Amino acid sequence: MQSFSNLVTTFENRFSTLSSFPLQPATLYDPCNYFLGIGGKRVRPVVCLMACELFADITDDAWRAAAAVELFHNFTLVHDDIMDKAPLRRGQQTLHQKYGLTSGILCGDVMCIYAYDQLAHIKKALPQVMQVFNKTAIEVCEGQQIDMDFELRNDVSIEEYLQMITLKTSVLLAASLKMGAITGGALGDNANKLYEFGKNMGIAFQLQDDYLDAFGDTDKLGKQNGGDILANKKTYLLLKAKEHATPEQKQLMENLLMQDDAHKVAKMLALFVTTGADEACRTATKYYSDLAFSCLEEVAVPSARKAPLRELATYLLHRDK
Ligand code: IPE
Ligand code: IPE
Ligand code: MG
Ligand code: MG
Ligand code: MG
Repeated sequence: MQSFSNLVTTFENRFSTLSSFPLQPATLYDPCNYFLGIGGKRVRPVVCLMACELFADITDDAWRAAAAVELFHNFTLVHDDIMDKAPLRRGQQTLHQKYGLTSGILCGDVMCIYAYDQLAHIKKALPQVMQVFNKTAIEVCEGQQIDMDFELRNDVSIEEYLQMITLKTSVLLAASLKMGAITGGALGDNANKLYEFGKNMGIAFQLQDDYLDAFGDTDKLGKQNGGDILANKKTYLLLKAKEHATPEQKQLMENLLMQDDAHKVAKMLALFVTTGADEACRTATKYYSDLAFSCLEEVAVPSARKAPLRELATYLLHRDK
């Protein structure tokens, strides 16, 4: 069984050969190389490889699936940064900021197609892998649209929020695990159990992402601090703050959501703290990560084999980027 850091290093090496783009047109591929080269935690490919390794030595098919999920993830980030008007990603300029909007659109598109090209090389169980991947890719688009729709709504419930983050974020982590398990020849219900582990871990992951967007350190995070507040994103923090606010605080929040205010981020952050929304977000993150750990226990392989996945889930819960 390989550790998170080992697998990240090996994946980086394989990924640069597996997913190398042609040289021309450089105006298309240079931005793609820029974006894939500025880092990223590589969480999704690594969980895919770890899931495979629960059942078998890592297969060529698992490397292909891992490359596909990372390419697909990067495609979603390029388009997400356009949709969220984000200037920074991984401590660098976002792709559309550096190369322009039309590059952002087309580079995202081509990365998505390269993701499918990786999958097309899978030799065993391709239909099963493809079915999981396609279902997930559609769900991510649905989640992204719902996230945008919520910017304009002020009556979003916690339940709707959880459904939205499940779609935009957690199903891709879940699918990465399931695809890895399938390529490793997982028997019985193990691939589905890993999917449930990933789904809960993904919810905890997005809750933490929302928390870091508000309270994280831009330098460490590599993303613009307060971006969700500026975009009126309906995050767990905002929904909980509204739920626990006094009538005066609620009025202040509604004003902040409706009009431009030079101190919007600072004022909203203060409300997140005084209403206890920050604490509620941390509690919810812990709840979903505990749920994830209990799903992992149900996967029928010797407990010691699951150590790298436990290590990774723990790291994600305590990350600052
Ligand atoms: C960011 O994902 C997008 C979300 C789903 C929150 P990551 O935090 O995994 O981004 P990178 O790949 O490490 O930059
Ligand atoms: C992004 O969620 C989810 C996808 C890209 C599908 P966010 O918009 O919160 O991600 P960041 O914070 O920009 O990484
Ligand atoms: Mg977004
Ligand atoms: Mg975003
Ligand atoms: Mg975010």
